[in-house]
Amino acid sequence: MIQDDRNVLESDAKSLIAALEWQVEMGADDAVFDQPFDRYAHQAAKAAARSAPPVEASRRAAAPSQPAPAPRAAPTANAPLGTAEAVSEGKSLASQCTTLEELRAALEAFDGCQLKFDAKNLVFGDGNPDADIMVIGEAPGRDEDIQGLPFVGVSGQLLDRMLSHIGLTRDSFYITNTVYWRPAGNRTPNDGEFAVCRPFVEKHIELVNPKLLLLVGGRAVTSLAGVTQGITKSRGKWYDISVGDQAFPAMATFHPAYLLRNGPAKRFAWRDLLALKRRMREEGITP
Ligand code: URA
Repeated sequence: MIQDDRNVLESDAKSLIAALEWQVEMGADDAVFDQPFDRYAHQAAKAAARSAPPVEASRRAAAPSQPAPAPRAAPTANAPLGTAEAVSEGKSLASQCTTLEELRAALEAFDGCQLKFDAKNLVFGDGNPDADIMVIGEAPGRDEDIQGLPFVGVSGQLLDRMLSHIGLTRDSFYITNTVYWRPAGNRTPNDGEFAVCRPFVEKHIELVNPKLLLLVGGRAVTSLAGVTQGITKSRGKWYDISVGDQAFPAMATFHPAYLLRNGPAKRFAWRDLLALKRRMREEGITP
């Protein structure tokens, strides 16, 4: 009997371990909250709140002479319900910021990006905010989420080493991402998530006011420069990133995570960095 119980316990333990290993393989490699969180109930409550008539609207129904409230934006393929509202709230919040501290605080207070709810920390920026060079990556990963700083994991360490060869260190460049929270399981952020973060990214660029930008990774190039080609074609070229009435010259290059998987591509990344270095000289930028 005791042997039977032990067998049951062992097989339960084995199946639990197998279930955990499967989750890790699928990318669920981190506990986000201390307590279980029922996302289905949370989404249902949000949807119910959205569809409930606002208190003001029911009052107006009793007094028909008043104008009806404007309808909410309709969902589209690239703007799931709520994204249009989140973008416009983001624009309004970002436009009021006059310092990086205010921008960080606005992001801390902003609930319009779904990524925030799966992340541990806001990953805002690092390096020298007065620098002439600003590096923009794609999205924070696991290490960045834990530390709340961009590019601190293995790919960030490679990027730092590469930039150090053209004389740039975190004292002489500023670094951030096109989205401010880690997508769970390191998936690529979707168009809506890029769009919602974009007003903050634009304000971020405006406040740092760099002379040159370095965009690392295809998604950073697509989302900021609007280039539809893949990074293999778009890298090594200069793009103008328009923010308000300013245009910031930006060089596109491979993402260091790609270079870690594909060593031979490093020689192209090196060419891109040399082009950046040449442009820095032309612009009189000394790191
Ligand atoms: N990759 C990115 O694009 N950004 C980070 O901050 C880390 C890894």
